[in-house]
Amino acid sequence: MNRLSEFMLPPAKSTTAEATDALFHFINVTSVILLVGITIAILYFSWKYRRRSDDDVTPVIAHNSKLEITWSVIPLILVLIVFGWGFSGYLNLITPPDDAYEIRVVGKSWLWEFHYETGHVSVNELHVPVNRPVKLIMSSDDVLHSLYIPDYRVKMDVLPNRYTSLWFEATEIGESIIFCTEYCGTAHSNMLATAYVHSAEDFETWLETAGSADDDMDPVELGERLVTRNACNTCHSADGSRLTGPTFQGLWMSERTMEDGEVVTADENYIRESILEPNARINQGYDPVMPSYAGSLNDRQIDAIIEYIKTLQ
Ligand code: CUA
Repeated sequence: MNRLSEFMLPPAKSTTAEATDALFHFINVTSVILLVGITIAILYFSWKYRRRSDDDVTPVIAHNSKLEITWSVIPLILVLIVFGWGFSGYLNLITPPDDAYEIRVVGKSWLWEFHYETGHVSVNELHVPVNRPVKLIMSSDDVLHSLYIPDYRVKMDVLPNRYTSLWFEATEIGESIIFCTEYCGTAHSNMLATAYVHSAEDFETWLETAGSADDDMDPVELGERLVTRNACNTCHSADGSRLTGPTFQGLWMSERTMEDGEVVTADENYIRESILEPNARINQGYDPVMPSYAGSLNDRQIDAIIEYIKTLQ
């Protein structure tokens, strides 16, 4: 089964992954056996009972009880096994252990925010301790998203105005990719994040230092890093190319025409407003789709992003 897993599935890096894979293989192998068996039977019978001469007459067969019971009972047993197995796995997957470490998740078009107990918010980076159950409590700021971590075999829809949750226990230190699996607009396919699994000790250290790591960084450098870290570059290029939002190149102090015809100079106040209340004013020719960064970027970080944009002339 391990060989088959390696061939068909991503690596199994959570405590529940193997049980989920076992059921997957059972359904898969059973289906292949039935497919091959039925195909061989069809070919064999169509050869065996082929028309041999012009006066061949097909016999009238009303029914065959033994055969009918067999082909009803065998699939019934298979379906019951799949149901029982799947249901117990499902119950396990929707019941997080009581001591699970909780992390809040907010899906926005098109990024993932992870909120920790310390108040720290990381964008598109989920940091978790190894060998400890983690419960994600999730909601969306706008439309439907869906959080999917293939290595952990967990996936759950993320909805506006309602909480959903999932849990997993990572078994290996390392990185795993996180996808959005609900089509949510233009940059849906870029709505990616990474799960970083740390040792218990490293995770504590990360939690303590995550917010302060940028303290003594040069503003322009910090701004550039924040633009990547907060996924601004998913929609705003730095080289003049047009993505979902206006490019940052040449933005600083340029004259911008808004949807309502108003002309605005892109100064500090305009950029700050665009970050905190992105839908207050929309550039002509663009859609009001940017999420607000109020609460996830502080003043120093906003200043740093403005300093970085200033350098993109
Ligand atoms: Cu979010 Cu697709």
